[in-house]
Amino acid sequence: MGKSNIHIFAHSKDLKQHLGILLKGRGRIFVLADSNTAEHCLPLIQDMLPLDGKDTMLMAVEAGEEGKNLQGAMDLYNQLIDYGADRNSLLINLGGGMVCDLGGFVASTYKRGIDFIHLPTTVLAQVDASIGGKTGVNLGLLKNMVGTFTQAQETLIYPEFLNTLPKNEVMSGFAEILKHALIADQELWKILSSADYVDLPLIKSVIPRALKIKEDIVNRDFKEQGERKKLNFGHTIGHALESLILESPERDLLHGEAVALGMICECYLSMKSKGISNDELDRICSFIALHFKGIELNRMQFHRVIEIMRHDKKNKQARINFTLLHGIGASIVDQEPEMEHIMEALGYLERYPFPS
Ligand SMILES: NC(=O)c1ccc[n+]([C@@H]2O[C@H](COP(=O)([O-])OP(=O)(O)OC[C@H]3O[C@@H](n4cnc5c(N)ncnc54)[C@H](O)[C@@H]3O)[C@@H](O)[C@H]2O)c1
Repeated sequence: MGKSNIHIFAHSKDLKQHLGILLKGRGRIFVLADSNTAEHCLPLIQDMLPLDGKDTMLMAVEAGEEGKNLQGAMDLYNQLIDYGADRNSLLINLGGGMVCDLGGFVASTYKRGIDFIHLPTTVLAQVDASIGGKTGVNLGLLKNMVGTFTQAQETLIYPEFLNTLPKNEVMSGFAEILKHALIADQELWKILSSADYVDLPLIKSVIPRALKIKEDIVNRDFKEQGERKKLNFGHTIGHALESLILESPERDLLHGEAVALGMICECYLSMKSKGISNDELDRICSFIALHFKGIELNRMQFHRVIEIMRHDKKNKQARINFTLLHGIGASIVDQEPEMEHIMEALGYLERYPFPS
């Protein structure tokens, strides 16, 4: 299983030097990038990787979740075969969570596994998706249904990649940072909630602290038998909202935006089970409403959200499984709130006064 091996680089010369050491003596090197990271991030490291198709080969995929499926994996297996990838080859995943999940899945299954490293280029991937060894692809609308638990050989964090990331993608990743604070780090919550602005410099400054929360949890519970479920806070309802929007023509809710809305509902559930106070609920929800957009929901959709949640792969025996808070910075797994309270939580979100 292996522990995580994460390095953070403030300067490109240090990143390049480290990459040079990693690549020495390897067989063929494959770089997986999507159309945006090939344009914006590859140039920052390209002088380390002569992409001549001889020793180092670029495999480019379209940006977006649509390519994260078995067909996308198949295309990559075929390219690896065509260009002679063997057990000594290395795959570098240069991208957000989509590239890390897809590339990690392909590397961990091709020839029963070749080494891969992650170079995450989104906030979400730097604090979450590149850490913890979950790889996978979607089956239709079912997210991450096929995958493996395989640690990257190394994850190299270079926050300067984030300079070209669109604002909504930055904020989507910020939702996961906020989640890490709420489940395990009261001090981080204080830093975030007392900042004058939530902007890229603030986010870059807290990335090391935020990723360490996930790293520590995963090192203690790699296969999600217990504590790792804490990381699912906000995701039970968040994933269901994400799927609901995917079924609609708008399809304009990013993963982190859905998690932020899920956290509003799940904070309400935490208050109902007397874990957090009304004051804490107010402070967390008003902070989320200040930084994220709301959602329009009707009663019919409440039932659909619940139906989707019933199919969540985290459930046991059809009970809907939640992680809830029992204070800011403290969380508890395997909670099964009353259905009546889940409906109330969706109503609380629907009525919440978002400023914009
Ligand atoms: N394995 C895990 O533990 C884990 C955890 C959370 C999420 N995920 C997965 O991660 C995925 C979401 O990841 P994401 O939010 O990073 O999305 P993403 O990888 O789709 O990236 C979002 C967008 O930003 C673009 N982009 C990436 N880096 C850029 C940069 N530096 N400059 C400009 N554009 C850039 C991408 O091309 C894409 O259009 C989902 O598939 C989700 O299931 C996995």
